[in-house]
Amino acid sequence: MSEWQKTDWRSKPRVQMPDYTDQEALQTVEAQLSQYPPLVFAGEARKLKRALGEAAAGKAFLLQGGDCAEAFDQFSANAIRDTFKVMLQMAMVLTYGAKVPVVKVGRMAGQFAKPRSAPTELVDGVELPSYRGDIINELDFTPEARIPDPRKMLQAYTQAAATLNLLRAFSTGGYADVHQVHQWTLGFTEGGKAEKYREMAGRISDTLDFMTAAGITSANNHALQTVDFYTSHEALLLEYEEALTRLDSTSGKWLAGSGHMVWIGDRTRQPDGAHVEFCRGVLNPIGLKCGPSMTAEDLKVLLSRLNPENEAGRLTLIARFGAGKVAEHLPRLIDTVRREGANVLWVCDPMHGNTIKSATGFKTRPFDAVLREVQEFFAVHRAEGTIPGGVHFEMTGQDVTECTGGVRAVTEENLSDRYHTACDPRLNASQSLELAFLVAEELSALRDARAVAAG
Ligand code: PEP
Ligand code: CO
Repeated sequence: MSEWQKTDWRSKPRVQMPDYTDQEALQTVEAQLSQYPPLVFAGEARKLKRALGEAAAGKAFLLQGGDCAEAFDQFSANAIRDTFKVMLQMAMVLTYGAKVPVVKVGRMAGQFAKPRSAPTELVDGVELPSYRGDIINELDFTPEARIPDPRKMLQAYTQAAATLNLLRAFSTGGYADVHQVHQWTLGFTEGGKAEKYREMAGRISDTLDFMTAAGITSANNHALQTVDFYTSHEALLLEYEEALTRLDSTSGKWLAGSGHMVWIGDRTRQPDGAHVEFCRGVLNPIGLKCGPSMTAEDLKVLLSRLNPENEAGRLTLIARFGAGKVAEHLPRLIDTVRREGANVLWVCDPMHGNTIKSATGFKTRPFDAVLREVQEFFAVHRAEGTIPGGVHFEMTGQDVTECTGGVRAVTEENLSDRYHTACDPRLNASQSLELAFLVAEELSALRDARAVAAG
């Protein structure tokens, strides 16, 4: 077989990608982006791959989260800071539950292109092409706004670069200090509403106090004041991905320079399609969304195509079946993985199978359904003796009202108060942290059960 080229996807069937009418503008943008610096470096992608390999082996746990779709008009330092902050809080709670390091990966700095369930949208008898994310067209319901414009790729690149710059500063500049992160969490458990989480927060406080007393402080321990924080997005808009793909001189392999990890969506995972063709050739860790229609046969082909060398940490399977459906679908995929002897990381996305329309007309997700899918995911892995290695959430650090439920309950009537998502409904800061406490309980129960089984 001849060597992989970053343009090979162009000869494969493509779905969910725009047909640009202005080819000249497209080529100008592609040429420009090809000259720009990559956003991430090969060494970082390899480091993440090693960390994900640890998670696949049960020696780490993945927390992946962020916006459904990043938006140009919601770009601000505060929004980035708040999502980063709540992810650190969640990671600390999960670390406590799992007793292993938590690998932190944002759906950030590149999550701009969206697959859609229908190519057009019908409003009051008017039909227009669907909105496909700010990197492609605009949300406004006008014919002009819905025309795909390749120049938007340049704005997305700029926003991704600035986002990553801020994330790097937050990660190492003192903001990520464990004591500070824990203080924020104590703020959440104060008062009447989240008291059921106070006990675990108290145990984390005791642990930190013990460490301080034993002389392990942020001042003398680098690991307590910095974090590794990675970026990820769906590799959907392949013109953008190709333009940022670079040859890594150290390994002679290709790097998708747009983010540390990229994933293939549930609608674009055709084994012979363009997206699989692109992703198979880059050295980054790759995610693969697995919905109810994933067959054992497709998965088998995808395993060999995306990870022919069976490298640890290369492939993350992101299960997203919906609450009540995990037991029906996950076991057959686990069985395929087992039969192929494939090294994969199993992660649960409890968002995309649980989207409903509320009585008030908003697209929403009930907190209880989200939690139930995570619990079912853990239960299947417990029964199968396999490893539930991470979670994948659509969430924000902002106090939005997009998903219903949680201890500070958002009701269907509240949804209109602060409904800001450009695409799917996200967990707000309080719901995200609450979910982390509940996942931590699952992790801790699993650890106890396995310790008993091991005698
Ligand atoms: C997403 O993660 O935003 C998404 C569209 O997911 P899926 O491909 O699983 O539907
Ligand atoms: Co989404």
